[in-house]
Amino acid sequence: MEKGKTGIDGTVVLFPFMAHGHLNPFLELAQLLSTRIPSFTITIVSTPANILNVRPRFLSYPTVRFSELHFHISDDSLPADAQNTDTLTSQSAVTRFYHASESLQPSFHRLISQITESDGGRPPICIVSDMFLGWTVDVAHSFGSHHVPLYTSGPYAMSIYNSIWTHLPQRLTCADHLTFPDLPGVTIDRTQLSRSMKSATENDPSSDFTIRQSEYCRRSDGSLWNTVEVLERSSLDNWARSTGKPVWAIGPLLPNSSKEFERVGKLPGLSPLVCTEWLNQHPPNSVVYVSFGSQNTIPVALMIELAKGLEESGKAFIWVIRNPPGFEVGESFRAEWLPEGFEDRITERKQGLLVRNWAPQLEILSHESIGAFLSHCGWNSVLESLSRGVPIIGWPIESEQFYNSKLLEEELGVCVELARGIDDMINGGDVARMVRLVLEGEEMRRKSEVLREKMMTAVSVVEGVKGSSLQALDHFVETVRMWGQ
Ligand code: UDX
Repeated sequence: MEKGKTGIDGTVVLFPFMAHGHLNPFLELAQLLSTRIPSFTITIVSTPANILNVRPRFLSYPTVRFSELHFHISDDSLPADAQNTDTLTSQSAVTRFYHASESLQPSFHRLISQITESDGGRPPICIVSDMFLGWTVDVAHSFGSHHVPLYTSGPYAMSIYNSIWTHLPQRLTCADHLTFPDLPGVTIDRTQLSRSMKSATENDPSSDFTIRQSEYCRRSDGSLWNTVEVLERSSLDNWARSTGKPVWAIGPLLPNSSKEFERVGKLPGLSPLVCTEWLNQHPPNSVVYVSFGSQNTIPVALMIELAKGLEESGKAFIWVIRNPPGFEVGESFRAEWLPEGFEDRITERKQGLLVRNWAPQLEILSHESIGAFLSHCGWNSVLESLSRGVPIIGWPIESEQFYNSKLLEEELGVCVELARGIDDMINGGDVARMVRLVLEGEEMRRKSEVLREKMMTAVSVVEGVKGSSLQALDHFVETVRMWGQ
């Protein structure tokens, strides 16, 4: 392999999307690649603020560099938090930002020119972009670079999600049950459609966007997935068959601790120490952890029923509580958003710990007293929970979360669904029953433990045999080396 002027064997560019759940897997991938191929430069395209935030983590990785791209999108219809962003804090901002992201194409093209110049005229060997920044394939190919999207969700859920947006007319029939021409045997019902899917019109921009992404994907040179073969082997096979390109399932791409990837600009939350000290007072598998991820929140009426149910269950809980939709993240929390006296009662009894805004999720899930995770089923939360052997109480709220929950419940048997979306009422009594069911049940915990072991095997070497994710990463690295020759 011929070295460029800089003496390196080549450059791999990683272009993540600036939402917390998308950025983390990219940073993990950067570490893995820089360890596997130290003769390559790994360049992460990021915003200035993100660079400041994550650079310390990479001090011991001299081959990881950062290139600044200002994520300023001049689209007046974008919400304020998407105008010049570090990480996005609401689902609607994320969706609209994706749609407008193609306007970054000229500045991304300039950035790749600079990277090429700095390596003596040799373009990057491969550009790995976020799954929804598929347009980067054209920039990559215009330089003669290869292109691979990194999917930060799994193929089971993404196939259903894509199929819904692609087959718009069928979705608009309002049938109770929906099937898909390209996914034989898969059925969902209308309650598993997100708000934006239910309200979509015939020529919806999301449909147009998803169809374009599928076209980009067909032009890419393969796909990387933050998933594990044991979770969804047949969906990975189907994806490989339908695209005719290699798929590499290299997950779970998880940080070692929440501290490594604190969210930029987040409001202060609780330190891991406070949470651990609180959890230390509770026996193994006795506490439910409640969180709706980095973007989703629930309306006041649902917060009140959830609070009633958690209290009625008699079980201990940690709840990451944030302002309901329609209220700014920085606005003060109002007492009337919870039942009267709730916080005082649960604190006095040591039954509950309310964490405002942000919690050290990985540390919490890793604690032996956690026995269940009431989750919105965002894919990172799913992987984090399963990799700690914690069963899930599903409450999907947006996008592909409904199909993550479906996979967990119907295919893997490690989840029961409590609710879907935020338009229907839940009942405190149902919450209490479900929390007790999962914390006291043996079967889901046993299955979760089996999955945890299998997921760990995927990233380990057992008796000289590498696990599936290590093998996939090896194969991807070999492919990149081959592309570089
Ligand atoms: C988004 C999308 O909404 C989801 O559909 C997709 O699967 C992933 O991206 P997000 O809210 O970011 O979801 O959820 P998730 O994927 O679960 O990621 C949240 C991350 O933030 C996790 O790594 C979690 O550990 C971390 N987190 C979240 C904290 O550390 N503390 C918190 O208080 C909340």
